[in-house]
Amino acid sequence: MRLSALASGLCAFAALASASPRTAQVFIQPIESAANGGITSDKPSPLAEVAYDIAALSTSSIVSYEAPDLAPETRSVRIGIYDYKAKAWVSGTTVASVENFSKGYSPNIILSVDSRGDVVSAACKGVAIDAGQTRDFGPQAVVLPESRGKQPELNKPVVLSPEGKKVPEEQEKTFLQKYWWMIAIAIFVMVSGGGAEK
Ligand SMILES: *[C@@H]1O[C@H](CO)[C@@H](O)[C@H](O)[C@H]1NC(C)=O
Repeated sequence: MRLSALASGLCAFAALASASPRTAQVFIQPIESAANGGITSDKPSPLAEVAYDIAALSTSSIVSYEAPDLAPETRSVRIGIYDYKAKAWVSGTTVASVENFSKGYSPNIILSVDSRGDVVSAACKGVAIDAGQTRDFGPQAVVLPESRGKQPELNKPVVLSPEGKKVPEEQEKTFLQKYWWMIAIAIFVMVSGGGAEK
């Protein structure tokens, strides 16, 4: 008993430790239309580093941001989490048009994270800066949990009546319907016991 309590305590501690603040390296890859009508792409380059804590997603912040240096031929870009050493995308990627990075727009980096805090997908959206907005027009980080949808109930047979209609499930009997006889006996014992005392 004590051992299992210790084990569950350790598990809770491990979960807490893994929920500590993390950072994600967001990269950007230009996609260019080549003169021959094909599509070419350069190597991904760092765009932003985002710090987040799955226990407090509203505190997510941009640690660093590098405005992309895009060639004039670039029409769109690919955004995602990239492992520079492994030379591979390690999250889902999204494509955005270069206009998202033009003047007058503040880049919002949007990450979807799973329950373990791993980034599932990354995106960037230029949000128009209001005239007169004097602060918070720099790049913003938005980290969203990828919440699980309702799971379907498996192995639950559908009961059909002979006409093929779905039969409604029998309602759970109420406590009174099930145990009225026990209550009756208890009352009887109480009443007769009380009578015997006199
Ligand atoms: C950002 O990119 C998306 C995808 O290409 C595009 O639909 C959207 O209009 C762009 N937003 C701006 C502000 O240019």
